[in-house]
Amino acid sequence: MRIWKKVLSGAVALSMVGVIAACGDNDNANETPVNDDPANDTENNVDNADNDGADNANNENDGEAEASEDQEEVTLTYARGQDATGATNILVEAFMEENPHITVEFREMPSDTGQSHDQYVTEFSAGDSTIDVFDADVIWPAEFAQGGYVLELDRYIERDGIDMDDYFEGTVDSGNFEGRQWAMPKFTDAGLLFYRSDIVDEAPETWDDLIEMASEYQGEEGTDYGYLMQANQYEGLVVNAVEFIASYGGSVLDEDQNVTVNSPETIAAIEKMIEIVESDITPGNILNFDEPATHTAFLEGQSVFARNWPYMQAMTEDEDQSQVAGNVEFALLPAGDEGSAAGLGGWMSMINRNSEHPEEAWELLKFMTGPEGQKITAIEGGSAPTLRDLYEDEEVRDAAPLFADEEFVNTLENAVPRPVSPIYPQISDLMQIELSRALAGEITAEEAAENMESSIESALAE
Ligand code: GLC
Repeated sequence: MRIWKKVLSGAVALSMVGVIAACGDNDNANETPVNDDPANDTENNVDNADNDGADNANNENDGEAEASEDQEEVTLTYARGQDATGATNILVEAFMEENPHITVEFREMPSDTGQSHDQYVTEFSAGDSTIDVFDADVIWPAEFAQGGYVLELDRYIERDGIDMDDYFEGTVDSGNFEGRQWAMPKFTDAGLLFYRSDIVDEAPETWDDLIEMASEYQGEEGTDYGYLMQANQYEGLVVNAVEFIASYGGSVLDEDQNVTVNSPETIAAIEKMIEIVESDITPGNILNFDEPATHTAFLEGQSVFARNWPYMQAMTEDEDQSQVAGNVEFALLPAGDEGSAAGLGGWMSMINRNSEHPEEAWELLKFMTGPEGQKITAIEGGSAPTLRDLYEDEEVRDAAPLFADEEFVNTLENAVPRPVSPIYPQISDLMQIELSRALAGEITAEEAAENMESSIESALAE
């Protein structure tokens, strides 16, 4: 039986947000409960005056849908990163069943968030209208809003009576830029420590405990390694670093966009990362590890501990792909001097500003990010909902032990966001460069902190 170990006392409470998880078993029934979304009340058949280009305010969605004659047949393109779970197809099918006049074509983007990001930016900045709706990593909305790539959603949210208080606050904040809402939260992610319960009885409390336990127990039950993390030069490295940095009490930017990264706390955090990466508890090629490499090795039984997102819980229990089913538990990540910190991840949905079908695009977005869609994503894909009430839903709770665990829900709400800035991708690239050099032993932790400070400051000043 899995137990969410309590180590929350020292957790660093910062504002939180959003997610993605990628994988889950698909053998749960795909029930499509009646959509009780308040947005479906008939009184919402109002005109949407300032809706650029929208020629169709029909908002029928009250149960059995039949394509009525006055409804134009529309085909939407929905894009998101690779989905190994099959949840997206089920989600899209459920939507089309309720909206027979809308056909949704699913376009799969790369699994690496940075690569997907660059493809979207290339298309949207050229004014391409092919993609109507897409999933955005929680780190993109400010940039996409400022770039004019996406539709502002307040008009729809208000018209359809969607209560943003139903969502975790941090996830809503991630989609808000200059007081307006550009993205709706779809699912949320927080970094977790997974461990082999057939090898250790409980999770380490601190990073030093982790190092000690990992080196003591690696080799047991056929394991080769003590700890796996994401240390490749990409977005995942930044999340791992933000977790270390926050756990030592440091930060990258403050709320006023001052660069705060060059601090003794951050230096201590980077030193701990270097120590772990250079130690023999991690594989020799840990600098190539991303999430897929982590779950592949962990599911093969290669490691005692691993840091990953919630999606991995469903995979560990899927006997078709896991050799460790029944032997895995989860806990908060270990604490530094300040406490334990989970990095905030997650995914939101947005509408291309140039979509030729904004009204139908909104219907799809509303469905996916509303209770019915999020439930499908949680049950079929193992991803954590952003709607608080879904954690009380029996089917969601039964689908994954984490969703029934209060400590986990707290962790989601307190996860630490990456720096919030319209130039976040640039900040991330600069961090990736310096962190990689530090982990490769080319520069010291002090130098990495100094270099990040000066390069981020110059980027912000441009
Ligand atoms: C997960 C998170 C996302 C993050 C990415 C990094 O997909 O949900 O926010 O950027 O991992 O690899």
